[in-house]
Amino acid sequence: MAHLLSTSSSLKISPGHKPYCQLLNPVQISFPTSLTFQTSKSAFKRLVFQGDSRGKCFKVQATAVPVSQEVSAKSNSGPHQSSNESSKPQRVMVVGGDGYCGWATALHLSKKGYEVAIVDNLVRRLFDHQLGLDSLTPISSIHNRIRCWKDITGKTIELYIGDICDFEFLSDTFKSFEPDAVVHFGEQRSAPYSMIDRSRAVFTQQNNVIGTLNVLFAIKEYREQCHLVKLGTMGEYGTPNIDIEEGYITITHNGRTDTLPYPKQASSFYHLSKVHDSHNIAFTCKAWGIRATDLNQGVVYGVRTDETSMHAELCNRFDYDGVFGTALNRFCVQAAVGHPLTVYGKGGQTRGYLDIRDTVQCVELAIANPAQPGEFRVFNQFTEQFSVNQLAALVTKAGGKLGLDVQTISVPNPRVEAEEHYYNAKHTKLIELGLKPHLLSDSLLDSLLNVAIKFKDRVDEKQIMPSVSWRKIGVKPKTVKA
Ligand SMILES: NC(=O)c1ccc[n+]([C@@H]2O[C@H](COP(=O)([O-])OP(=O)(O)OC[C@H]3O[C@@H](n4cnc5c(N)ncnc54)[C@H](O)[C@@H]3O)[C@@H](O)[C@H]2O)c1
Repeated sequence: MAHLLSTSSSLKISPGHKPYCQLLNPVQISFPTSLTFQTSKSAFKRLVFQGDSRGKCFKVQATAVPVSQEVSAKSNSGPHQSSNESSKPQRVMVVGGDGYCGWATALHLSKKGYEVAIVDNLVRRLFDHQLGLDSLTPISSIHNRIRCWKDITGKTIELYIGDICDFEFLSDTFKSFEPDAVVHFGEQRSAPYSMIDRSRAVFTQQNNVIGTLNVLFAIKEYREQCHLVKLGTMGEYGTPNIDIEEGYITITHNGRTDTLPYPKQASSFYHLSKVHDSHNIAFTCKAWGIRATDLNQGVVYGVRTDETSMHAELCNRFDYDGVFGTALNRFCVQAAVGHPLTVYGKGGQTRGYLDIRDTVQCVELAIANPAQPGEFRVFNQFTEQFSVNQLAALVTKAGGKLGLDVQTISVPNPRVEAEEHYYNAKHTKLIELGLKPHLLSDSLLDSLLNVAIKFKDRVDEKQIMPSVSWRKIGVKPKTVKA
């Protein structure tokens, strides 16, 4: 697989040394669509770190304050384990902590007093390089982000750079960090990316399914009591013509009744990987007594949380392109640059949505109220549902108030999906645990549009239109033209 990566680093750097990475032997390949990128057979094999190379894990700790202050920061009161255990703060490993949801969550948990470690192989940044994409907002390197957080708050976030598909690396991180909870965001998360060609479909399923399987084995082997909080997606359910329940449905069939996993109807190779993850997790809860929460998340919008707004270096990513951009974020960028909002097909596609500030809240609630040993708990994590046409209308109205002339066009739907359908998904369990939703209001849309306007010079309009078709999926790896 030309673009596949082996990203685990076997180096340990000492504090103060700055790591840097170099992509070597780039292989230019031709893609019959409208983008260009370069890829490398061993893109991260020459991830080079200045420092010594003894251990297996590459672990970085921000060291911006003296050790004495570090100790006092660690002793701050915060979320602690239950009284029959020690009084240490809970230790949370955030897999995928350099990504959109993971970065915001890592900061939020750190601020709340959890001991946090980020585990990430930085592959998301590599996808951008490969496809010629970029976040609308400028984002700092993970190392600078963590140093900045330490400077501002005095709080340490540990960093392990590596691939969770590499079990040796993952084992080392478990043994070193000893998590009480693992929040698993670390997957290839774009449906269009998984539909580019055979290579990306295989990569997505291999990366996601094996990564999750490794996390399950690591918990079983090293931290049996550790609570797994796994990010699934509402897309696993598809769009059935009945109400969507939270994980399970009670069915009476031929006079007998049972409560069974809610049927899954995934609509891309990415969504299928998430369904398989859910099955693997459910099975290991039953077989090994693992405690797990599957958060079937809706589409996330927004860029700011209380913590990421604290400094420009902490700024989160904001994807608007046709591969990684999510609907509402993309519409705001389109409105800001005067590009018509691109509604796919009839625009009746309805999904659950939530503010990134609620993503971090939901994860914290799940950690603070863990599943029982052997329990496979499923929460539908979204706060409101909208059709694509409704979102376009909201952005048009909000744009008008800011003096933007917002137009909407319908483009041929690149996906295979129902464009008009029934949709009513339950989402009460997180509310019952205490979620206070940030609903999509005029003021939020104003602020999202203002972020888009602020960075509109960074928008690459060539990336806005859909570039991946479900029906014309390529067999060979594609290279795209600039
Ligand atoms: N963003 C959304 O709207 C949304 C909606 C529903 C569900 N989700 C789920 O939430 C999770 C996070 O989504 P996101 O938008 O933050 O994605 P993202 O791509 O921004 O972040 C994922 C992070 O995981 C890392 N990663 C991927 N594979 C890895 C591996 N094998 N080893 C180590 N690190 C790895 C990437 O480098 C990246 O930093 C995903 O599982 C996604 O399916 C996201």
